[in-house]
Amino acid sequence: MTDDAIVATGITKTYGTLTAVDHVDLKVPAGGIFGLLGPNGAGKTTIIKLLTGLSELTAGEALVAGYDVRRYPMEVKQRIGWVAAEVILDDDFSAWENLWLQAKFQRLSDWKGRASELLAYFSLQDRRKDKVSTYSTGMRKKLEIALALLHEPRIIFMDEPTIGLDPGTRRMLWELITGVSREYGITIFLTSHYIEEADALCRQVAILDQGRIVALGSPDDLKARVRADYVELETAQALDEPTLRAIAGVQEVRAQGSTWILKVARSEEVLPRLFESLETDRIRRINVEKPSLESVFIELTGKRIDQASAEVHDYRKFYANVRRARG
Ligand SMILES: Nc1ncnc2c1ncn2[C@@H]1O[C@H](COP(=O)(O)OP(=O)(O)OP(=O)(O)O)[C@@H](O)[C@H]1O
Ligand SMILES: [Mg+2]
Repeated sequence: MTDDAIVATGITKTYGTLTAVDHVDLKVPAGGIFGLLGPNGAGKTTIIKLLTGLSELTAGEALVAGYDVRRYPMEVKQRIGWVAAEVILDDDFSAWENLWLQAKFQRLSDWKGRASELLAYFSLQDRRKDKVSTYSTGMRKKLEIALALLHEPRIIFMDEPTIGLDPGTRRMLWELITGVSREYGITIFLTSHYIEEADALCRQVAILDQGRIVALGSPDDLKARVRADYVELETAQALDEPTLRAIAGVQEVRAQGSTWILKVARSEEVLPRLFESLETDRIRRINVEKPSLESVFIELTGKRIDQASAEVHDYRKFYANVRRARG
């Protein structure tokens, strides 16, 4: 027997010639919050689908809540909850009716006590009879988590739980997720491409890139590995690499599109030299990255994790579109 909530060994998923998840090993201890951090398309959702039995493994094996996902999918499903990145609530139903529907899905007969308790926990009891279409984004998220908790799972999977949320709602949700994990003694496995989110929430983080785990550890351990600052630089005209390399203190130079990423020993010392050798009016944008999970990712892959996060759809617009589509 093991105390690990999840043990994945060499899990792999291919779609035709694309390897979306490439021999991933994971050990997620029971209790606490585990984060899978990676850019768009890294394979985060695919890993959740493999671990929850929604998608079939091409290779490898996974024990989830003590059961082999391939051989005992029903045993696994009874012990896990899932909060999807997409909307799962029925807008025309009230919170209570959504819980009732969830109870049907899960074939729960004795669910009302638990449902009331969850509504109270998430401060939704006063609104339980109102249609979900009248809820704020934060309230919807709370209800989605309540639904996932209804059948008393041991592990909850959350796929990008705060995607597109405004900073205030995001912080509220962070507190809620931490609280749920503690209060209900549940293991939370979440994916994110928000650096601060993984840093703030997770006891352990696996950093994923192109289907592979590139780093694994506590946020502090991971950050301690990077002993450099990164300076990102965008200039009006093209630069040549030797100019940048020649600046004292610059350790590495990489180009990402029209942006240069410089690895420097101490940005405080290098920035003045940079301004001196570049004629400051050519500089369009400059950004200094102190050791963070972002710089861990840059160090390992040469890219930023969150470069695409600005393009992420707005959650509320998304809900509005769903409502419009339903007429
Ligand atoms: N059903 C599918 N058929 C073909 N390719 C797929 C399928 N599902 C995912 N992929 C591909 O697998 C790769 C990983 O996708 P996945 O959705 O797991 O990434 P992700 O890390 O969740 O990204 P995001 O942050 O954008 O949600 C992508 O290249 C994607 O196009
Ligand atoms: Mg995804």
